[in-house]
Amino acid sequence: MSEEHVRANRGAWDADAGDWVDRGRRDWAREEIGWGIWHVPESELRLLPDLEGIDVVELGCGTGYVSAWLARRGARPVGLDNSGAQLATAASFQQEFGLRFPLIHADAERPPLRDASFDLAISEYGAAIWCDPYRWIPEAARLLRPGGRLVFVGHSYLSMLTFPDDDLPAGETLVRPHFGMHRFVWPDADGAVEFAIPHGEMIRLLRTSGFEVEDLVEYRAPDDAEPPSDPLATVEWSRRWPIEEAWKARKR
Ligand SMILES: C[S@@+](CC[C@H](N)C(=O)[O-])C[C@H]1O[C@@H](n2cnc3c(N)ncnc32)[C@H](O)[C@@H]1O
Repeated sequence: MSEEHVRANRGAWDADAGDWVDRGRRDWAREEIGWGIWHVPESELRLLPDLEGIDVVELGCGTGYVSAWLARRGARPVGLDNSGAQLATAASFQQEFGLRFPLIHADAERPPLRDASFDLAISEYGAAIWCDPYRWIPEAARLLRPGGRLVFVGHSYLSMLTFPDDDLPAGETLVRPHFGMHRFVWPDADGAVEFAIPHGEMIRLLRTSGFEVEDLVEYRAPDDAEPPSDPLATVEWSRRWPIEEAWKARKR
């Protein structure tokens, strides 16, 4: 683990893991697959391929609930995460909910997994935001079989330009530039490092990594959205602009 941001993020997530246990248990218990802070149903967003019998790698699985949802629908997931503390929570939920799948303690920018061994690589706020896209997306391509899918969900491009420097939620002013966006270190984030790049760069990166872009889903908060426990944005903001986005790509 040579990269400074990987070390910093491991420390931050090991320290923060205790705050994610309740949310993890709630999500493990959910019947319906739903995405992001609003839990927008999969039946609406349609991000996933047919799951029966497919090999899945979740890159930055955290407490492991996405892998659990997929395993219940017939997929064979492997959860990979950089934080031993998050994986310990995932393992405790496997015991609590009686559902087991492999958990690997590793960096999604350098996953210790064989080439072409998965049909789906997925990340909800895992590698999608915590890994350098120029490192993890080519690795996701390496792990996928031809025709395999990459699906990832995270902060929207617009939110990364409008999150205030000192606090949340997202505002209505562009507070940082589009050009040069890549690496984000928020004050009070214990040195944790996030990543985001503009849409044009993401399309080029996906294509040069061997993917065809299938969709970019910029979704809004539902009509009946409750104010989120995670105050990334107000409901009003998220009815006007996308606070999150989901990418779908297919390995050529
Ligand atoms: C918000 S969680 C996302 C996982 C899950 N959807 C959840 O909400 O519990 C972010 C996860 O990304 C993991 N992560 C950060 N950097 C990583 C890296 N380089 N490789 C793998 N996982 C990483 C963190 O350890 C953390 O568990």
